Amino acid sequence: MYYVDFDNLGFKVSRFGMGCMRLPMIEGHTDDSQVDEKAAIDMIRYAIDHGVNYIDTAYPYHGGRSEVIVGKALKKGYRDKTMVATKLPIWLAKKYEDFEKLLDEQLSRLKVDYIDFYLLHALDEKRWHRVRELGVLDFLEKTVQKGKIRYPGFSFHDELPVFKDILDSYDWRMCQIQLNILDEHYQAGVEGLKYAGSKGIPVVIMEPLKGGKLAQNLSQEIIDIWNDFPIKRSPVEWAFRWLYNFPEVTTILSGVSTMEQLKENIKIFENAKPNVMTPEELALVKRVQEYYKGKIKVDCTGCNYCMPCPSNVAIPDIFSMYNNASIFDDFKTYKKRYEEFIKKGKDGSQCVECGNCESVCPQHLPIIEKIKEAHRALT
Ligand SMILES: NC(=O)c1ccc[n+]([C@@H]2O[C@H](COP(=O)([O-])OP(=O)(O)OC[C@H]3O[C@@H](n4cnc5c(N)ncnc54)[C@H](OP(=O)(O)O)[C@@H]3O)[C@@H](O)[C@H]2O)c1
Ligand code: SF4
Ligand code: SF4
Repeated sequence: MYYVDFDNLGFKVSRFGMGCMRLPMIEGHTDDSQVDEKAAIDMIRYAIDHGVNYIDTAYPYHGGRSEVIVGKALKKGYRDKTMVATKLPIWLAKKYEDFEKLLDEQLSRLKVDYIDFYLLHALDEKRWHRVRELGVLDFLEKTVQKGKIRYPGFSFHDELPVFKDILDSYDWRMCQIQLNILDEHYQAGVEGLKYAGSKGIPVVIMEPLKGGKLAQNLSQEIIDIWNDFPIKRSPVEWAFRWLYNFPEVTTILSGVSTMEQLKENIKIFENAKPNVMTPEELALVKRVQEYYKGKIKVDCTGCNYCMPCPSNVAIPDIFSMYNNASIFDDFKTYKKRYEEFIKKGKDGSQCVECGNCESVCPQHLPIIEKIKEAHRALT
């Protein structure tokens, strides 16, 4: 396992972090809480036995079971061999005292005296302002003083300016962003990564394989591009390699649902040094990115400038679904998700063609026409 300094925190952390959001399920069950506990505990312990010292979970994962299972896996001395990260479900807090209650519940689920990395879960602009007003920063300070958490951080899902604003607003000890070869410029993106790096804030990466889409059911064209290189690596290894090449990346969280995936991924991290990719390798990744881009239906960058739409149309989300359906050739999945938007009155049919969105879109997209096209394709 390859380790890096956790910047100014004075210890080394494995570049592979075990993500506990996609643990193995009991066969035949589709309910997310029906985790195969024994298999999951075996996997977490296997990871720790093979040098992984960063375990990531969160309050809602697997309907609350993930934290409990991590707690069980950490018995028999495993707690002393690893750091644990979990996240405060900020959307459940309506008042200051709720932060305290939730943290105590998490400590009890995990059966630990303290949490190493405690993240405000899935911060976006709205949530950030709301929890700040509720006193979340004061709560983090006090909780560190009480010894219940060691390092406060946040995970993030919004646009780059919001990310920078949050980073600049507090003495964060780490942060977690979504990044993979397809999301280079999405949300915080590489620019956000470098910004955090310039401030000396460790960055942990989530969704490195875009939830598995960069690993499975790949088109022959993608496989051919990856194979068109003298050194043969699996698409999974290329995706991780592109990430660990960044010196600003501290740890990459890998979600795994089988022992085979875990073993394969740990092996990839044996020598996960930064700055190892040659110009030819980077050019290969560019070709893959270009191929994916060619399948993109709408050049929406997800900047959210067009939001809110007065008719409640979820413009960037609809474009993202439409693009993903095309890129991954999976309209079935995205049509199902789009049904939820229809139920909530956020779908393209709500558009009254007021034109507000088009007048502010920095990409000058013909949004009205494209929303109709996406709606047709997703219904
Ligand atoms: N804070 C947040 O808002 C947030 C959001 C997302 C994730 N996270 C954290 O970040 C972690 C990582 O994100 P992620 O789970 O989305 O990671 P990911 O690496 O993008 O996707 C994981 C999925 O990729 C597939 N996979 C992994 N290794 C593979 C291999 N060797 N061969 C073939 N397929 C492979 C598996 O899919 P199948 O299961 O379908 O086989 C696995 O479940 C999560 O587990 C969670 O701890 C946090
Ligand atoms: S044109 Fe349609 S999508 Fe755009 S802001 Fe108006 S109602 Fe919303
Ligand atoms: S303003 Fe344009 S680029 Fe930005 S989210 Fe809306 S449609 Fe996408």
